[in-house]
Amino acid sequence: MSSIKSPFCVVLFLALLITSLMVFLKIWYCGLQECAHATELLSGHRSLLHELRERRQEISNLRKAADHQYFVRKPDLEKGTKRNGDIRSSSMDEVGCEELKNVQVVDFLGSGYTKTVLKALLPQGVPVALKSVNSQGTDMRKCLEDYKDPFSCQELVSFKLRKEVILLQRFQHTNIVKLRGHCQDNALVGGVTVVLEQGIPLQMIQLLQSPWEERFRVCYGLVRLLQYLSSSPLGSVALLDFQPRQFVLVSGELKLTDLDDASMEEPACRSDADCAVRFPLRNFSVPCSSRGVCEGLNEKRNLYNAYRYFFTYLLPHQAPPTLMPLVNQIMNSTGELRHGVNEILDSFEKIFHLYKSGRHLENLPPSIIRGYAVLKGVGSEGNTDLRCWPSYDQQGCALSVHDAAEAAHICNSHPQCTSFSLSDRKTWTGRVIASFRSGFARLRPDVNSVVYVRKARMSGAPPL
Ligand SMILES: Nc1ncnc2c1ncn2[C@@H]1O[C@H](COP(=O)(O)OP(=O)(O)OP(=O)(O)O)[C@@H](O)[C@H]1O
Ligand SMILES: *[C@@H]1O[C@H](CO)[C@@H](O)[C@H](O)[C@H]1NC(C)=O
Ligand SMILES: *[C@@H]1O[C@H](CO)[C@@H](O)[C@H](O)[C@H]1NC(C)=O
Repeated sequence: MSSIKSPFCVVLFLALLITSLMVFLKIWYCGLQECAHATELLSGHRSLLHELRERRQEISNLRKAADHQYFVRKPDLEKGTKRNGDIRSSSMDEVGCEELKNVQVVDFLGSGYTKTVLKALLPQGVPVALKSVNSQGTDMRKCLEDYKDPFSCQELVSFKLRKEVILLQRFQHTNIVKLRGHCQDNALVGGVTVVLEQGIPLQMIQLLQSPWEERFRVCYGLVRLLQYLSSSPLGSVALLDFQPRQFVLVSGELKLTDLDDASMEEPACRSDADCAVRFPLRNFSVPCSSRGVCEGLNEKRNLYNAYRYFFTYLLPHQAPPTLMPLVNQIMNSTGELRHGVNEILDSFEKIFHLYKSGRHLENLPPSIIRGYAVLKGVGSEGNTDLRCWPSYDQQGCALSVHDAAEAAHICNSHPQCTSFSLSDRKTWTGRVIASFRSGFARLRPDVNSVVYVRKARMSGAPPL
């Protein structure tokens, strides 16, 4: 009987055996010094795997939330049956891996923490922007430092591009960059290329020097975008990283291009204190709803960012004096977040219609034009020492006007102005571009132009 050990002893013995075996293995495996490093790598790898799992989950949730329509039809398979020479309509997401083999990269457009953007020409010569993972970017560098696993890091960083594709497929708006296609190389998990309509990176400095009409256009486009995002197909969207560099201009129209920091959920809350957003100069909050979400916080956050990054710089400066009260109202209600995006959009629309129709000029006397001799079918050229700023032309003084009367009013207020001409060039609101001159060397035939010569100053004009 004494030879039979109690079960307790067996367990103890086994436990000891396993522990010493593990210690032995660990010493043997890592060597005494490298052990700490190896376990660190091991735990680092675990958190990398954890993060990859989370991103995969996020992408799959996003897909579920997005309409299934797109994913039911397999665009890449369909594309294989299409042939060159197809007339590519403006419809979305048509350029695939096959087409991308034949593009010609012609320029570098920009890069950020996550992505590199190149300009390329499709076989038909259409310019597009190609986004891919920036292997020198901060995201990639940090991942490599933490995990030292290039393959998994490529996959991790590329989730941001995949998120962007899903969002661009769902969001369709004039002020969001158009998705022209994408390619996900299955052999290389992180090999995602996104094909977008090409724009020009937003240069705030340049925009500050452009006419009010163009600056107003950018702000108006931004508000239309924010209204769309406040009730988008995926709910109320906040742009967490809201900066001018997330936007581009396409023919003067503002377009959002960076969507990887978009949040599709209003923050969850237990009390009102959880629903605060902090900015350097202001704090804002909304009440915590009975559902436990900060309802409307995303919209408020976007609006205040629009105010602090765009409106303060672009909107009031050189606005037409009669529109100033409305502009100030917008500045005030966004700066204090007194109104929602719908009311702000209403105010923008009011300004737009007044400006486009010329009703903001109502008190100009029509007789003002009688001080000018009208020469139809001619243009003037040469010798234009009149300069104004900001001008639509690099040289000379080209401003937008509603009609000849507004141009005459402008010319009258500049002592050196002796004439102006109206061309068939129009701005985005439909206003006419007028060129103002202090004299001209010659007149030339031009059916699309009319020259107005200031009568009191006609002595300086050449004989006809
Ligand atoms: N469609 C486009 N046309 C022209 N330039 C573009 C386009 N899309 C992006 N860019 C330029 O490339 C830059 C980087 O793009 P994007 O913002 O998507 O990358 P990111 O790594 O997420 O940047 P960030 O670190 O600023 O968040 C942009 O700041 C912009 O200047
Ligand atoms: C915003 O709130 C924080 C924290 O409550 C506070 O420290 C800060 O002073 C507030 N800022 C302003 C501008 O009110
Ligand atoms: C808005 O207007 C009020 C008074 O009408 C003023 O006190 C406040 O400073 C203004 N705020 C902004 C941001 O212009």
